[in-house]
Amino acid sequence: MSRDWEQCYRDGETPWEKGASAPPLDELLERMGAELWNGGPVLVPGCGLGHDVRRIGEENIPAVGLDLAPSAVERAGKLTTAGHLQFEAGDFLDPEWADGRTFAAMWEHTCFCAIDPGLRDRYAESAAAVLPPGAIFAGVFYLNPNDSGDEDEGPPFMSTVEELETRFGPWFELVDGWVPTRAYPSREGREWIGIFRRLG
Ligand SMILES: C[S@@+](CC[C@H](N)C(=O)[O-])C[C@H]1O[C@@H](n2cnc3c(N)ncnc32)[C@H](O)[C@@H]1O
Repeated sequence: MSRDWEQCYRDGETPWEKGASAPPLDELLERMGAELWNGGPVLVPGCGLGHDVRRIGEENIPAVGLDLAPSAVERAGKLTTAGHLQFEAGDFLDPEWADGRTFAAMWEHTCFCAIDPGLRDRYAESAAAVLPPGAIFAGVFYLNPNDSGDEDEGPPFMSTVEELETRFGPWFELVDGWVPTRAYPSREGREWIGIFRRLG
């Protein structure tokens, strides 16, 4: 059964919420610079309380945080004062949401691993729908989130670099990828930064 994200926020059951942006995002920005985002706007699907949106905004890049849970979006908005950042409630996997929207780049952090793995192709289709040729899709992906080693245990659900290349391969080429040296405590060595470019 899929998780009721809105209820998680209402109940305060949000163990993923760290009160700060993703350390691998800092590492990415140090290595690649804010030029990576092509001037924005950058879409951040599954943005939660919007820490990564605000981190991207610190580089003077416009960004849009999207989340299924209205409570998360409302709280993200209250935490944000910068006028070039926006938040929206919506379903990234819904083709109607993606229809007609275009972003200069996209940042993924704990949305791909949160959705049912059976819906991952829809995630890839939505990413392809909102990004024009040449746009960057960068993300930090969970390779092995569960100590049990059970691939079906989640969310978060695991992925592999090979799976990501296959899933996104119809629309994106892999430009670079590495295991970040910066991570939240307990995520060290378990993540992978992937940078993909939308094919034209
Ligand atoms: C594990 S949480 C991570 C939140 C945030 N990225 C963070 O790290 O704090 C996953 C988030 O994805 C959102 N989400 C799940 N499915 C979604 C969908 N189809 N479209 C948009 N957001 C979604 C949930 O509401 C939740 O806020």
